[in-house]
Amino acid sequence: MPNSPPATPPAERRALTVMFCDLVGSTALSARLDPEDLRDLLAAYQRHVTAVVEAAGGRVARYEGDGVLAYFGYPAASEDDAESAVRAGLELAARIRLGADTEPLSVRIGIATGVVVVGELMRSGVADNPPVVGETPNLAARLQALAAPGMVLVADATRRLTGRLFDYRDGGLRPLEGFADPVRVWCAVGARVTSRFRALRSHALPLLGRDAAMAALADRWALAARGSGQVVLVSGEPGIGKSRLVQALAERVRQRPATVVRLQCSPHHESSVLHPILERLRGTARAGRTDGPGDAAGAVGVRRLKRLLGRRVAAAADGVAADGAVGLLAELMGLTGLPAAGDAQGPRLDAQRKRELLLEALASIVDRLAQVRPLLLVLEDAHWIDPTSLQLLDLVVERMGGWPMLLVVTCRPELQADWRSRPHVVSIKVEPIGADDAETLVRHVPGGENLPATVVRGIVARSDGVPLFIEELTKAVVDAAAPPKSPHSDGRNVANVPSSLQASLLARLDRIGRPRDLARIAAALGRQFTLDQLSAVVEDRHPEELRGELQRLIDADLMVPVASPSSGTYAFRHALIQDAAYGSLLRSERRSLHGRIAAALEGRFPEIAAGQPEIVAAHCTKAELWEPAVRHWLGAGNRAARGWALAEAAEHYTEGIRIAGNLPASPERQRLELDLHMALGPVTMGMRGYAAEESLEVYRRAEPLVHAVGDVSQRLMLTMALYNVHYGRAELTEALAAAEAYRDLAERHGTNLGRAYGLLAQTHAAMAAFGDAEREFQRSLDVFTRAPEDLSTVGVFGSQHVISLAFRAGVLFAFGRAEEGQASMTEGVALARRMEHPLSIALALVTELLTPIPGGLNPDLARAEEAVRFCAHHRLGNFETWAEFARGAIVARRGDPREALKIMGAAVEKVEAMSSRLFRPVHLATLASAYARLGELDQALLLVDQALATAARTGERRADPALRRLRGELLLAIGRRDEAEHELQQALAVARSQGSKAEHMKAEEAIARLARRQP
Ligand SMILES: Nc1ncnc2c1ncn2[C@@H]1O[C@H](COP(=O)(O)OP(=O)(O)OP(=O)(O)O)[C@@H](O)[C@H]1O
Ligand SMILES: [Mg+2]
Repeated sequence: MPNSPPATPPAERRALTVMFCDLVGSTALSARLDPEDLRDLLAAYQRHVTAVVEAAGGRVARYEGDGVLAYFGYPAASEDDAESAVRAGLELAARIRLGADTEPLSVRIGIATGVVVVGELMRSGVADNPPVVGETPNLAARLQALAAPGMVLVADATRRLTGRLFDYRDGGLRPLEGFADPVRVWCAVGARVTSRFRALRSHALPLLGRDAAMAALADRWALAARGSGQVVLVSGEPGIGKSRLVQALAERVRQRPATVVRLQCSPHHESSVLHPILERLRGTARAGRTDGPGDAAGAVGVRRLKRLLGRRVAAAADGVAADGAVGLLAELMGLTGLPAAGDAQGPRLDAQRKRELLLEALASIVDRLAQVRPLLLVLEDAHWIDPTSLQLLDLVVERMGGWPMLLVVTCRPELQADWRSRPHVVSIKVEPIGADDAETLVRHVPGGENLPATVVRGIVARSDGVPLFIEELTKAVVDAAAPPKSPHSDGRNVANVPSSLQASLLARLDRIGRPRDLARIAAALGRQFTLDQLSAVVEDRHPEELRGELQRLIDADLMVPVASPSSGTYAFRHALIQDAAYGSLLRSERRSLHGRIAAALEGRFPEIAAGQPEIVAAHCTKAELWEPAVRHWLGAGNRAARGWALAEAAEHYTEGIRIAGNLPASPERQRLELDLHMALGPVTMGMRGYAAEESLEVYRRAEPLVHAVGDVSQRLMLTMALYNVHYGRAELTEALAAAEAYRDLAERHGTNLGRAYGLLAQTHAAMAAFGDAEREFQRSLDVFTRAPEDLSTVGVFGSQHVISLAFRAGVLFAFGRAEEGQASMTEGVALARRMEHPLSIALALVTELLTPIPGGLNPDLARAEEAVRFCAHHRLGNFETWAEFARGAIVARRGDPREALKIMGAAVEKVEAMSSRLFRPVHLATLASAYARLGELDQALLLVDQALATAARTGERRADPALRRLRGELLLAIGRRDEAEHELQQALAVARSQGSKAEHMKAEEAIARLARRQP
């Protein structure tokens, strides 16, 4: 693609590899040399360094006397920046002889990689101020100072990025000036000859989600092995798993007699003649492990090469002697020490003919190899192929029809090949793996097996099925030993893109040229955005122009159209590309961009501002526009709460509270904070339970704000919330006081009276003051008869009208007025259903299940199951737990006490975790009955005693008569008849004093049973 990066790119953040190179002994030189000679020498040295750096793809930023500072990764990043720097370093570290009459010079080199801000200063090439800002250049400079002459010292990050491409010696932990902790340093020794997959990627992970591709490859191999040459072109984006797939094929093929040959193209050698072939021969001939073999090694190398190829070439090549081809190859391989002229015919032939002969000879070698045993020839990364190798590839594809060989070519999407459509050629496009496989992959990365499910899902979502992304994100998360931050906390910085991916992602963006800047702006909008939104932010450019650039981003596989190209909606192809683009923005740029986006959304896209206030809120936050941000978070929370998306609502409110902390202290800020707390409270109660510590915490923080700036409705709300905390925890004395305070406030202002009397009534009921309870329930219901409940106040506490009806049923049952009680309960359930308010419905269903009707609990298992499902569906966790408990109680009555105890035990544990202690005596009594059914009488008795003690402590005495009766029956069963009789008399007395006719009768029956039993 002919897009060069813009000439004067704006300042940006990016991952950069920095190299410092310093001349050794320059002071001594200056003493020895005439200043003019010294100047010439230094100039020659600088030219040499510049040439090496630029050939490796780097750029010299600055000369500092005899020091040189070079960047790799600017102005355009490549995935191999770190590798290029180390290669250049190794080349420079070999002694430099700059003139015939001068001494060879030595240099010291330091290399480091990290995130820097790089700016316009770069343009001048040489500037006084350091053009990049960050720790990285300092680190490189310190490493350089630490290096011995001829040594390349490399920072840990750089070494990690270059994996096993080089041999390194551990230089240990070194204290460095300006760095708080000692820094690990590595000494680069030399380059290794290896496949890039082996050097840079992991091969220990299982192959996932590639059954179809493997089957296709196996088919082709079978055909090939039978003598019909086949080609498979495996293409796909970086990291999608091309090499892994081919590796799996090679493993399979090796199980049979077959030859596997791998050729690796290299991004550093796109114009070195026959690089993949020569590299391979070098490896085989062991002409040297490093890139620069010495003279003696060369001679040995040629001999080995001859031995290796001689016979094959002799048999294969036409009239030209084998030596000719060997000589040519050796020449190309830079092996000096060539035998005398007579040994090589090559030099007498013209260049074009030489080349043809060489390609013919090499093609024949392939043929020969295949004739010996079926051949799997893998050409890796053909997008980096040099032109001569490409010619050879064309030749082989042309001829191989009858050869028993499979040629597998891997490449990224950009490779063009004329022979793609030939009949013996198939293409396999490697696609992202599915979410399930992605999860499995996360779990297989070391450390990934212990990550919480939410974190795993986050990684899967962000990596879009690209195995490399999955792997690197997982490693980054495991290394950070902390889950990724919440989407709101402005954690979206470069650090969130694993450093191993930064350069390659940025390279994909840099390659596109001018549209890159548009991509960076779009990244601030989000993963998905519309052309309209983008042009509202980039006002100075014509939408058609933007559309054109977006199309180029699509063509470059950086973005995808959402729905259809004409829909005007686009998305970043990968979340990580968006992150990389966003991460390259300076913080100041981000702020102003988000400000523009927020203004555009509010001004031009009211439907977004209204429908997704959290989006506007997030932009305001990132723009540091604190007050509007707070208002939008509040709006977003309210919207989420209305849809009962409690977790989201809580997140939005909490974010609003956090942001409000940035506002200057004022009553206005207090009012905002109060609104947020009063909204967060009910949501927290909805999620964690009324009695939970978190719920209380929110209201504790709200209390001073209510007193400072609250109005009546907020005071009522706070009082009711505190009431609910106490009531839920069965702190009934405090609850009663709160209910009375609420009633006083309500009466004084003539508002919320139905709720006020209801709260009093339900507290009395819990305390077994049934007379008071009935009176207050009646008053509450009278209020609602006169004026129906305002549904907007129902919220998280549920409809008080429903509560008053359903809870009154319990009181009526106690009085023995079963029919009235049943009617009240039925009316409560029906009213809740009419309101279509899930929480009120759940409340009514659960109350109906748990209220002891005459004769015991409602035994309808189907109803309990329905209630559980309903609560689960509406994510009403605490009600679901109660419904589960009721289900357990019914299972016990139906004759499976053991199963029932499991169910009820789990429910009680959950209830306890929410600090919810209301109904505890009832729960314990139910558990005790189940144990009694099992014949575990001691355990049952223990629980009854616990229940009575709890009731005495909390004042929740409504279950006392039943508990005493149960205790009496248990005592009787274990033969303690006298105590039993006493206990039953107690039950009778308590029931009488509570006015509970139902319990009174049951106690009398129990006493009669006891009397009938002979001692
Ligand atoms: N199907 C898969 N199951 C499990 N792991 C995989 C799978 N595919 C790839 N991987 C892992 O993901 C990483 C990237 O894969 P690989 O190197 O094969 O990608 P690639 O397409 O060859 O990339 P490039 O274009 O950069 O060469 C490797 O570490 C590999 O082990
Ligand atoms: Mg690969």
